[in-house]
Amino acid sequence: MHGSGQRLAVVTGAASGIGAAVARRLVDDGWRVIGWDRRGCDADGVAGRRVDVRDYEQVAAAAAEVDRADLLVNSAGIGGRGFASELAPAAWERVIGVNLTGTYYCCRAMFPALRRAGGLVVNIASVAAHLAMVEGAAYCSSKAGVAMLTDVLGVEWAAQNIRVIAVSPGYVRTPLVMDGIHRNLLDEETIVRGTPQRRLAEPAEVAELIRALAADELRYLTATTVRFDGGWTASGGYQPHLAGGLLPAADDARTTPDAARTDRAGLTVPD
Ligand SMILES: NC(=O)c1ccc[n+]([C@@H]2O[C@H](COP(=O)([O-])OP(=O)(O)OC[C@H]3O[C@@H](n4cnc5c(N)ncnc54)[C@H](O)[C@@H]3O)[C@@H](O)[C@H]2O)c1
Repeated sequence: MHGSGQRLAVVTGAASGIGAAVARRLVDDGWRVIGWDRRGCDADGVAGRRVDVRDYEQVAAAAAEVDRADLLVNSAGIGGRGFASELAPAAWERVIGVNLTGTYYCCRAMFPALRRAGGLVVNIASVAAHLAMVEGAAYCSSKAGVAMLTDVLGVEWAAQNIRVIAVSPGYVRTPLVMDGIHRNLLDEETIVRGTPQRRLAEPAEVAELIRALAADELRYLTATTVRFDGGWTASGGYQPHLAGGLLPAADDARTTPDAARTDRAGLTVPD
């Protein structure tokens, strides 16, 4: 981070989970923080703004209010599961639209402000970017896209002194995951058993990593993804939403939609 005075960060998805923890951590560290969220954001010390990252006009209008930015954290995101053969096109578009297109829109619109400061972009990808997960066609593709977008922008924007890094968390104790656990779409015990460190991460731990990535001493780090998953990916990754972490049997090929599965896929993709 260069320049004098207070450093400025824009954090998307700042109303909840990882984004909220990042915003809080940066405020505590003396940053000026602007929080973009489709729900708005009224956290202490954060200048909240209602922005839907799927809508480029909204994103561009919010970005035009920011003169220089030392940090952009793209944490706005949604889950979404469904067998590829059954997924509603609208569900696919929602997941890709928020997670991948929304991330790109925010990077694109914030480029001038980031260039002025020689800033850093941190995109929140996921372990789902690196391992194929059953029912993950949309979510895994969106996150793999975020990881590749990060590499491309890191390469393109190195000349402007902008760094771009993705963080791929494993399972983090946020409303997104806890909601899945409460609705029996995820199984906490299976997540814990499948994670070498035998626990979920706390949002504050991800926030601490992002704060550390913003250090000037790490300026050589760009165009890459940091896995922050307690060893989950390296160990092969359980499929915690499947009983015992097992793949479906061959005779359970999931090619014929039925009401229960379609309903379940719809439920997991909020709009
Ligand atoms: N929690 C995990 O275990 C985990 C693991 C890996 C990756 N992630 C990723 O981390 C990011 C944050 O997830 P979280 O667990 O904190 O979820 P969360 O649901 O707690 O918070 C997500 C926030 O994004 C906002 N949001 C959603 N759609 C938006 C839109 N169109 N425009 C603006 N804001 C929008 C929501 O209002 C919410 O405040 C997501 O990209 C998620 O995919 C989470």
